[in-house]
Amino acid sequence: MADSKPLFSLDGDPVAAEALLRDVFGIVVDEVIRKGTSASEKVCEWKEPEELKRLLDLELRSQGEAPEQILARCRAVIRYSVKTCHPHFFNQLFSGLDPHSLAGRVITESLNTSQYTYEIAPVFVLMEEEVLKKLRALVGWSSGDGVFCPGGSISNMYAMNLARYQRYPDCKQRGLRGLPPLALFTSKECHYSIKKGAAFLGLGTDSVWIVKTDERGKMMPEDLERQISLAEAEGSVPFLVSATSGTTVLGAFDPLEAIADVCQRHGLWLHVDAAWGGSVLLSQTHRHLLDGIQRADSVAWNPHKLLAAGLQCSALLLRDTSNLLRRCHGSQASYLFQQDKFYDVALDTGDKVVQCGRRVDCLKLWLMWKAQGGQGLERRVDRAFALAWYLVEELKKREGFELVIEPEFVNVCFWFVPPSLRGKQENPDYGERLAKVAPVLKERMVKEGSMMIGYQPHGTRGNFFRMVVANPALTRADMDFLLNELERLGQDL
Ligand SMILES: Cc1ncc(COP(=O)(O)O)c(C=O)c1O
Repeated sequence: MADSKPLFSLDGDPVAAEALLRDVFGIVVDEVIRKGTSASEKVCEWKEPEELKRLLDLELRSQGEAPEQILARCRAVIRYSVKTCHPHFFNQLFSGLDPHSLAGRVITESLNTSQYTYEIAPVFVLMEEEVLKKLRALVGWSSGDGVFCPGGSISNMYAMNLARYQRYPDCKQRGLRGLPPLALFTSKECHYSIKKGAAFLGLGTDSVWIVKTDERGKMMPEDLERQISLAEAEGSVPFLVSATSGTTVLGAFDPLEAIADVCQRHGLWLHVDAAWGGSVLLSQTHRHLLDGIQRADSVAWNPHKLLAAGLQCSALLLRDTSNLLRRCHGSQASYLFQQDKFYDVALDTGDKVVQCGRRVDCLKLWLMWKAQGGQGLERRVDRAFALAWYLVEELKKREGFELVIEPEFVNVCFWFVPPSLRGKQENPDYGERLAKVAPVLKERMVKEGSMMIGYQPHGTRGNFFRMVVANPALTRADMDFLLNELERLGQDL
């Protein structure tokens, strides 16, 4: 059998395995952590897909490769990947690199366990509960339930499923048969996962009623009332309202107290999608933006976004204390959740979810929290707000920048108006020409590797940039860089 061993397998060779991993960690420290977070290095190294395929030599072959070649492959993977930890990566609602969180992720990956039973994840079962308890306390609940989900979209879907199950418990068995047409309500600015969730759960996207927003992107409670009446008049049964705390593009916070009043009047489940804005709860100064969140039935909160806990870290929090999660999703697999185990089987939390194996997502947040303390995390949130305000002030001083709206969060939405369009607002093709600027600048910045920032059209507005101030390492110099760089890239337009 020995000679059937592949040439370069490290199976059964712990010394060589350790040497390889030490080398890989060394490369990660040099190339991702040191260079990847350095403002003087590139954010990305753009290649056309065909060239990238060739450079990476992606094909999988029957013959294994030597350790040196594997190390070269690791370097290539890192080289051509986008450095989301870079101070000029502003493209997403997550960025930056927290060393404690990364340490947690490395430990999680190395231990490679599943969160489903106390038997194989004793530390993480207890830790998950403690972390969820802390997050619930920040929402304002002294009891409740929850679970870490693979992302905010899935957390939102869980909320929809739970709200439906609570109202119609036999839908678990009977499915959609016997259910009336259901209606759920969310704003025009909601995350697209609400519609996806409705489709995925068999509710259908037609069951999503879109509520109007005001000029700042906040749900209008009067229109929510109106939509509920319209849905009822059409024969649908309203069951859930999904409000958003921190909308994806504008960063708006829906008025939760007024929405909770509507939900209370109509007996509707209130879900708050705080995937983006939930971390503001840590800030004494800014948490008023989520006033009323304690009245929600469920909350989705992604610490992997503003807290930089690392992908993925998304909590679904519930006010429920009746074991709704387990009742809704459990199926009591006797080979995993044996009831005659030698410990308290309530610690086997795996039947709360629709997954079987589930990643450990609590350690990275727990370790980061231990290191930073709640106060450190609060400072992080407050700093992000302060830097966003700084950016807004600087942007207003410059000729070529126009704010889309005054931000109330760390999303700063603006147009870069290039020299040829300045003072031409009255021209009939101004909007059309302005909308073409962001895609051109995006291509230029990515091809140079100098910066990454997202843009999008929005309603009747043409493409504008959405700056996200989330990376905890950002400074005023990075805000200045953003503005200078856009001016440099767009000076000939
Ligand atoms: C408001 C909001 N909800 C939900 C999500 C989805 O989160 P995830 O990407 O973790 O699925 C996002 C993502 O940006 C978001 O902005």
